[in-house]
Amino acid sequence: RAYSKVLGIETSCDDTGCAIVDSDRNILGECLQSQQQIHLDFGGIIPPVARDLHKQNINNVVTEALQQAQVSLNELDAIAVTVKPGLPLSLLVGMNTAKELSKISRKPLIPIHHMEAHALTARLVDKNLKLPFVVLLLSGGHCLLAVVNKINEFLLLGQSIDDAPGEALDKAARRLQLKNMKEFRYCCGGQAIEKAAMKGDPKAFDLGTFMTNYKDCNFSYSGLKNAVRMQILKSEKKHELKGDEIIPEVYDLCASFQYAITKHICTRLQRGFEFIDRTKLLPEINRTLVVSGGVASNMFIRKHLNLVCDNMNFKLVVPPPRLCTDNGIMIAWNGIEKFNENLDIYTYDNLDKVDIQ
Ligand code: KG4
Ligand code: ZN
Repeated sequence: RAYSKVLGIETSCDDTGCAIVDSDRNILGECLQSQQQIHLDFGGIIPPVARDLHKQNINNVVTEALQQAQVSLNELDAIAVTVKPGLPLSLLVGMNTAKELSKISRKPLIPIHHMEAHALTARLVDKNLKLPFVVLLLSGGHCLLAVVNKINEFLLLGQSIDDAPGEALDKAARRLQLKNMKEFRYCCGGQAIEKAAMKGDPKAFDLGTFMTNYKDCNFSYSGLKNAVRMQILKSEKKHELKGDEIIPEVYDLCASFQYAITKHICTRLQRGFEFIDRTKLLPEINRTLVVSGGVASNMFIRKHLNLVCDNMNFKLVVPPPRLCTDNGIMIAWNGIEKFNENLDIYTYDNLDKVDIQ
């Protein structure tokens, strides 16, 4: 298909993002407004608060992205927007904005699956990345291993049966009160744990291994999360700490927790690779693993995923951090991919068919 430009909107969780991307893989304009600091102050995401912040920011974010790109709505070929999965109240803000833009510009609307967008971002960065490939998504809300067969066709190999890895990291960071430590004040949970872990001993605490008897490729993090919680309580008791004091073992505990999560991810991934080989799910020339989602920006985890890939003869592709976390670029790019293949395109007078989830 000919040259095209798509505007993408992302509001599924706590980031308000908009970007304009073209079919030559140029990011023409981008704006991202994070609500992270506000949610950190609340101790977690409260859906109506997230919605109100999206509402406050969405118009500015869209305007800024368009201005950067020096593109008017009329010059776009389509508008893409995340419709699932996510917080319904948050998704609605993005979808309603996208519908309005579609109506006033008479440009088609393309609904996007947030997880598919994370996976396909790798093709924005690497134009030689051919389908099918394997994807591992590690974020605050999800954990899944899949084979991407087509733009909108994923074969799910495994997913978390409880928490997501980012959620477990965020909870542990909160229990350890890392945000009360100056050095981590402006970090999200996962980042704080990664930084703190650099000063600790990953072998200091044995937090156990989980799901070793499960023959599938699923993941589980709640056992690890609980093991950290118990260890924190034990330390607090041992040192007779009051509620808001930081435990002396904080660095060792972060290192051990990060190590345990990494080990779990790596062993489950190894199982997945073995299953793919046994069942011949992937042609030999397509041995590529794409890792994305916020947790993929963790360098310790990345280093170990690389070892598994080397061992199993897979090429590892990890988009740069700003593309791994939630953003409008990945939505716009997925819009380009769908537009090119004529998938899920809704004309401006047919928008009632598009809904969230
Ligand atoms: O993909 P993302 O931006 O949002 C979704 O959940 O969809 O991922 C956010 C998650 C948070 O849980 C955050 O703590 C985690 O990614 N994260 C990290 C790092 N940076 C962000 N986890 C581990 N290490 C990091 N450096
Ligand atoms: Zn995400």
